[in-house]
Amino acid sequence: MSYETIIYEVKENIAIIRFNRPKALNAINGTVVAEMKDALEKIAADKSIRALILTGEGDKAFVAGADIAIMKDFTPLQGKVFSEQGHELLFQLEALPIPVIACINGFALGGGLETAMACDFAYAADSAQFGQPEINLGIMPGFGGTQRLSRLIGKSMAKELCMTGVMISAREAKDMGIVNKVFPKEALWEETMKVAKLLASKGKVSLRAVKDTINRGYDQDLRTGCYMESDGFAMCMASEDAREGMGAFLEKRRPDFKGELT
Ligand code: CAA
Repeated sequence: MSYETIIYEVKENIAIIRFNRPKALNAINGTVVAEMKDALEKIAADKSIRALILTGEGDKAFVAGADIAIMKDFTPLQGKVFSEQGHELLFQLEALPIPVIACINGFALGGGLETAMACDFAYAADSAQFGQPEINLGIMPGFGGTQRLSRLIGKSMAKELCMTGVMISAREAKDMGIVNKVFPKEALWEETMKVAKLLASKGKVSLRAVKDTINRGYDQDLRTGCYMESDGFAMCMASEDAREGMGAFLEKRRPDFKGELT
C-alpha cells in the first residue's frame, strides 16, 4: 500500500511515521486511519524494528484532531463507526510489541492528543499546545480521550480539559503528566531520536514484557498486576537476552541483545 496522508520510513531499526496533511494541520480522516493501520501491521511484522516515533509533518502541528470537514455531516451511525475505528487503531498502536514515542512538534488536539496518549511516552516542543477542544464543536472526544486522559491525569483534571476545551502549554502538559519531557523546538527531534536509539539497544523481550505488564496491569488491582509481573519476569528468563544481559554484567562487558526468545 502506498501512502498519501502519512510518511513511513525506517532509519537504523527505528520506524518513523509522520502525519502528512500539513495544510489541514495533520487532521485525521478515514484515509489516515487506514494508512496508519497498514503501517502498524508492517511494523509489527518486521522483527528488525526496535522502536517507533510518531510525529507531524510541517512546523505547526502534531495532529490538530479528527477532520472536522468530514465529521460535519456525519449521521450518528457514521459517528459511531468513525469513533470505533479510532479506538481500534489506537489499541493497535498501544499493542505494538516495541516502544512508541510521540514526538509532539506542535498542536496535539482532540484525536491528536488521544493518539499521543496511546503511545508509551511523549516528548514535546516547548511551543506545542494540547487540548480536547471537541466541546467547542458541540461534540465530545471520540478516540478514547475521556478514558485515557482520566486514567492519565485523574477524573477532575480530565473533566476540566474536556468540558472547558481550553488549550494548555507543553509545560502545563508536563506538569500534569501528559508529556514526559519538553525540549526547545529545534532540539526536539534530536532528543527524541537519542532516546529511540537507547531503547533500540535494549533487549526486545524485556522491553515488550515491561510494556505489556504496565499496560495490562494498569487497570487491575495490585495483586493481579503483580501476578502479571511474575509472568513477564518468567518470560524474560526464557530469553537469550536474559542470559546475555546478566552474563555481560558478570563478565564486565556491554551486552549485545538479539531480542529473540530461545
Ligand atoms: N479538521 C479539519 N481541518 C482542520 C483541523 C481539523 N481538526 N484543524 C485545522 N484544520 C485546518 C483549518 O480548517 C485550516 O484550513 P484552511 O487553510 O483550508 O482554512 C488549516 O487547517 C489551518 O488551520 P487554521 O487556519 O485554523 O490555523 P490557526 O493557526 O489559526 O489555528 C488551531 C490552529 C487552533 C489548531 C485551529 O486550526 C483549530 O482550532 N483546529 C481545530 C482543533 C479541534 O477542534 N480539534 C478537535 C477535532 S474533533 C476530534 O478530534 C474528535 C475526536 O476525538 C476523534
